[in-house]
Amino acid sequence: MYVCVCHGVTDKAISQAAQAGACSLAELARTLRVATGCGKCAELAQTLLEAAALTPPRAPVRLASAG
Ligand code: FES
Repeated sequence: MYVCVCHGVTDKAISQAAQAGACSLAELARTLRVATGCGKCAELAQTLLEAAALTPPRAPVRLASAG
C-alpha cells in the first residue's frame, strides 16, 4: 500500500527502513523522502515506523556457540 503518494513510498519500504535501523520520522524523510512533500503521510508513516519497531525481524537470529 502506498503511504506517501508524493514520493511513491510504500508501507513495505517503511518497514524495511525500520528493520535497517531507521528510528524516527526525520530519518524516513532523509532516506525515503517521506513527509517532505504535502506532509499528509507523516502521521501514518510514524505509526508504521512504531509498529515495525515492535515487530521482530523475520530472519532467525543465529547465536554464536560457545566452545
Ligand atoms: S503524501 Fe507524503 S509528502 Fe505528500
